[in-house]
Amino acid sequence: MVSKLVRLTILLTSTVFAFTLVVLLGSNLYRKKEIVRVIQPSAAAKLGPELQSMKEDSVQSFPVAYNSTHLWSMRVADKEHYRIVNLVPCRDVFYHAHRGTGINETMNHCNEKTREEFSVESTLQAQQWIFNHQNPMNCQNKRFAIIHKYAWSGFGSTIHQIVWALATAIGNDRIAVYQKPGGWQYGSCEWSNPDCLFLPISNCSVPTQIDGTQVIRLAADIDHWYRPAYPSVFQKRSFNWYRSQLLFYLMRFNAKILAHIQNTVARDFVPPSIDFHRPYIAIYIRRSDKVNREMGRAFTLQEYFDLFNADARRAQISTVYINSEDDSVFSEFETVNKKYGGYYKLIRIKAEKNIVFMTLMGMDTNQRGKIVLEFLTDLYIEANADLHSGTLTSNWCRLVDEMRFVLGKMLPFYTPEHIYHSDV
Ligand SMILES: *[C@@H]1O[C@H](CO)[C@@H](O)[C@H](O)[C@H]1NC(C)=O
Ligand SMILES: *[C@@H]1O[C@H](CO)[C@@H](O)[C@H](O)[C@H]1NC(C)=O
Ligand SMILES: *[C@@H]1O[C@H](CO)[C@@H](O)[C@H](O)[C@H]1NC(C)=O
Repeated sequence: MVSKLVRLTILLTSTVFAFTLVVLLGSNLYRKKEIVRVIQPSAAAKLGPELQSMKEDSVQSFPVAYNSTHLWSMRVADKEHYRIVNLVPCRDVFYHAHRGTGINETMNHCNEKTREEFSVESTLQAQQWIFNHQNPMNCQNKRFAIIHKYAWSGFGSTIHQIVWALATAIGNDRIAVYQKPGGWQYGSCEWSNPDCLFLPISNCSVPTQIDGTQVIRLAADIDHWYRPAYPSVFQKRSFNWYRSQLLFYLMRFNAKILAHIQNTVARDFVPPSIDFHRPYIAIYIRRSDKVNREMGRAFTLQEYFDLFNADARRAQISTVYINSEDDSVFSEFETVNKKYGGYYKLIRIKAEKNIVFMTLMGMDTNQRGKIVLEFLTDLYIEANADLHSGTLTSNWCRLVDEMRFVLGKMLPFYTPEHIYHSDV
């Protein structure tokens, strides 16, 4: 049994590897017909005129790693997920934008508008548009923004500031590229920029002449969403949706990172793939350095469980993935679960604990790179969950929240803070 599973994992991992490689080579595996077949009819997107005008050829030439269940190795909302969506009671969720757009947005998974916007089809169209913008047939005479500076802050915060830079470039009709080397702190590789972890932001080479008009430099350490610009094609989209799409584009794992993540999952999970654990709920418990700063106070594990227990039971979800930089959460789990008569089954990853921003700052780039791999493994597991819980005052939890939006998952995020922040 075990060796069968191991073999299956090796097979799966190598399939992913080969798959990603093919994508990297720009191959055109999937025909339009197959893409259309798998879209959830209940969630068909109403697209803007420009997106609608995208013809079959452009869909065909878009090397999206999409095979009916996965989008670049991330599981998109599927039948099983929609089964759960339909069991969770309807409610309005208000996302508060404190800065940036300043526009608060309402989501409700029973509402047609939310379902349409956060549909898989809508994501495929957006990802295709962003990909085409960033990877044009011809890079000559294009306008560029060279991203050359990264925030010296937590990983989620740093990524959100790159998302802002990408939005600013695209909003001003520029292709965003990363300077090489770029002074990227999260892991060492020859480019020293986020391309070390993710698929290339663009296939254009970095311009050498910076004239301030055609080519500008853009620092990605300004703010999370400071005076954002929208291209006209996404003008009418919600902030939550648009930012999530940009974030997802930036964070498509490259083959090396994906293989690492899947090996880690195989090492720590029995059976060794997250597919065998669905449906599950992912909880990220942020404590330590955030408490009394962004977070008002720390919440007990019980407070998180109180939020989703009824829905989880209704949907027959009993597997919980828990992650936290605070190791005591796992002994808390034992106590909480006893109260529920042992209903919940815990899955977790062995990772270094008590890593907070100050610890990261004290590390060398290699060590930080290792921790980042743990973060990305966590992201992979959380994004593939069906229900999510955490605190949106944390950049990391917001990042997870955005990831799941892209995958077509619009159920409410369970938060003991009882407030939904789209920025802080
Ligand atoms: C879809 O792709 C993922 C990885 O991208 C792979 O693990 C999975 O086996 C594929 N599924 C099918 C049905 O081909
Ligand atoms: C959005 O929510 C924030 C925080 O609750 C509030 O301060 C602000 O006035 C709201 N903005 C609008 C435009 O209603
Ligand atoms: C970039 O990618 C696009 C789309 O796959 C392709 O048409 C183009 O030739 C590529 N350009 C370069 C410089 O590789």
